[in-house]
Amino acid sequence: MYKILFVCLGNICRSPMSEFVLRDMVEKQGRGSEFYIRSCATSTEEIGNPVHYGTRRKLAEVGISCDGKTAVQMTRADYDKYDYIIAMEESNIRNIMRIIKSDPLNKVSLLLDFAGEHRGIADPWYTGDFDTTYKDVVKGCTALLERL
Ligand code: 4NP
Repeated sequence: MYKILFVCLGNICRSPMSEFVLRDMVEKQGRGSEFYIRSCATSTEEIGNPVHYGTRRKLAEVGISCDGKTAVQMTRADYDKYDYIIAMEESNIRNIMRIIKSDPLNKVSLLLDFAGEHRGIADPWYTGDFDTTYKDVVKGCTALLERL
């Protein structure tokens, strides 16, 4: 089973969007049982809070529900639990490294690395642009899934 953890700063915008987009993709391909997919935050800011309205609305537009998801913070134990730890931008990676200390198995990457683009995904918490973030998330998740 592929165990995948998406990580962003707050776990209310980009990482839950990635979690539920990838879950939807694997379900539609009939591969749901091959995957365990979750998301988390590096910060404590939003712990316990539901997915941001903008992400919920964008996902609902494409027929995806993220009901029941609330923000959780990454722990050191997640490093052993997951095969892929996928960040949205470089600052997430710095924060992840503070939590896990080292990445001997090279589990940590940027989502868009899988699409051959070494760049971050803009934070709609600041940009207000959930459409652009969604397009990048779909691009990254599509490329990731092609490899697995
Ligand atoms: P996310 O967006 O990291 O994509 O979930 C943010 C959500 C909350 C905050 C920052 C970014 N915050 O500062 O609370």
